[in-house]
Amino acid sequence: MGKVKSHQKLPTEWNEREILRNKGQFWTPSWVADTMVAYVSENTDLVFDPASGRGAFYEALLKIDKPKISFYGTDIDDEVLADDIYNHKNCFVEKRDFIKNPPERKFKAIVANPPYIRHHRINEDTKIHLKKLSESITGDTIDGRAGYHIYFFIQALNLLEQDGKLAFIMPADTCEGKFSKNLWKWISEKFCIEGVITFDEKATPFPNVDTNAIVFLIKNAKPNKTLHWIRANEAYSTDLFNLICSDFKLQKFETIDVISRQLKEGIATGFSRSEQNHNGFKFHLNDFANVMRGIATGSNEFFFLTALQVKELGISKEFLKRAVGRTKDVTENILTLKDVEQLEKANRPTFLLSINGNDKLPDAITNYLKVGVEMGLPNRALIQQRKPWYKMEKREVPPLLFAYLGRRNTRFIKNEAGVLPLTGFLCVYPIYNDKEFVDKLCQALNHPDTLENLKLVGKSYGSGAVKVEPGNLGKLPIPEHIVKLFDLKRPYKTATGQLEIFREP
Ligand SMILES: C[S@@+](CC[C@H](N)C(=O)[O-])C[C@H]1O[C@@H](n2cnc3c(N)ncnc32)[C@H](O)[C@@H]1O
Repeated sequence: MGKVKSHQKLPTEWNEREILRNKGQFWTPSWVADTMVAYVSENTDLVFDPASGRGAFYEALLKIDKPKISFYGTDIDDEVLADDIYNHKNCFVEKRDFIKNPPERKFKAIVANPPYIRHHRINEDTKIHLKKLSESITGDTIDGRAGYHIYFFIQALNLLEQDGKLAFIMPADTCEGKFSKNLWKWISEKFCIEGVITFDEKATPFPNVDTNAIVFLIKNAKPNKTLHWIRANEAYSTDLFNLICSDFKLQKFETIDVISRQLKEGIATGFSRSEQNHNGFKFHLNDFANVMRGIATGSNEFFFLTALQVKELGISKEFLKRAVGRTKDVTENILTLKDVEQLEKANRPTFLLSINGNDKLPDAITNYLKVGVEMGLPNRALIQQRKPWYKMEKREVPPLLFAYLGRRNTRFIKNEAGVLPLTGFLCVYPIYNDKEFVDKLCQALNHPDTLENLKLVGKSYGSGAVKVEPGNLGKLPIPEHIVKLFDLKRPYKTATGQLEIFREP
């Protein structure tokens, strides 16, 4: 592996060219591109980039002192392919759709930062094509929630020669999405996953983009039981590059951590997350509470009202329930009635129009519902399923709320105000309702050692935020010492006065 010339670049470069979000094109920063190219460019005379953009990987190849290696790039955008960078000999780029019309040959070295297009932005015709593509390559379909980048990954792996190497930079959902189990089963059985590079928040390759990036270094060879798992803690450091150039042999670094990780464990945990001992967790949140998502109104604009709107519309209290909508509206770990009144003063909506469908409705409401009809609400996806269309979802008031997406420390909130949460929150219902248990459970859940585990059940974003779906929050591991510290296993008096003994899970 060759040396890098003028490798260190100033971070100001980010603003100039690498963070052009135009057309969803996120350019790979040089310190990451150099590392990825260093990995694939061993034992090859050609490097292929199927989504070459403005040539971040070609630029990296030029810096490596190996003039005999040529570059071949494809992209669907004429404008980027006209970039001056490609005016070199040993370089060939062409306009070509890598998904619909891939090159009819295999490669020894493939490197890419594929277009990150989420599934809901992919049209139906393309989806059918993608389904067929994954079926023909992997022998199985991939869950429809996989984005475009996943198919790029599969297509590229399929074009990798025996002993060829591939380096892809991908969003973390590649290891966290619904589809990822099947995807990694296929990859890990067919290929050798040599290395995975993850990035600390401080070192995110795409600052200002809420995506947690991850680099996969894969060889078309017999699978190995272990892999090198790397955490980069500082951007624009040469440590990553030097590690790859040493073929993972160098050990002492200041800005990266490298561990050897079991393939099986990495796949079960998700490579975007740190190593976990899966046998180590005895307790999970659903041993102590049940979780449901907050109320989905179908139209907050119509159903979720401010005090002023309530007054102007003349809606009486019996058709209203106190509610909170935005995570930002709850700043502390206890939500009191006073806080809700403050929100009300700030003209934030706090009243949910709650009609159960059998009530006789006063004129004020009937008139307001006519506005909803004019807005076309009865035909909206979620609302359509309700009869009548304005019937509101029901929830018991949850003693605890969980902020569904966030990076703050307090994610569990004691609902002293007795409000109903909308979808910005999850409802947490402790198995016992007495104050002592609810208090202790809340403290146990907000303990840093418990919150740390949110990463294991959630989806991570570049900013350090973690999003947790209702089904997964129940699986949140609660460390044994926390269960002990907050005495969560001791007998509690139930509402009927009976003594209930906690049963070991
Ligand atoms: C995330 S950018 C990466 C560009 C460059 N390799 C880099 O890392 O800076 C992805 C590129 O893929 C291109 N692209 C999108 N769909 C494509 C397709 N079906 N086939 C080939 N290229 C595509 C986009 O135009 C864009 O330039």
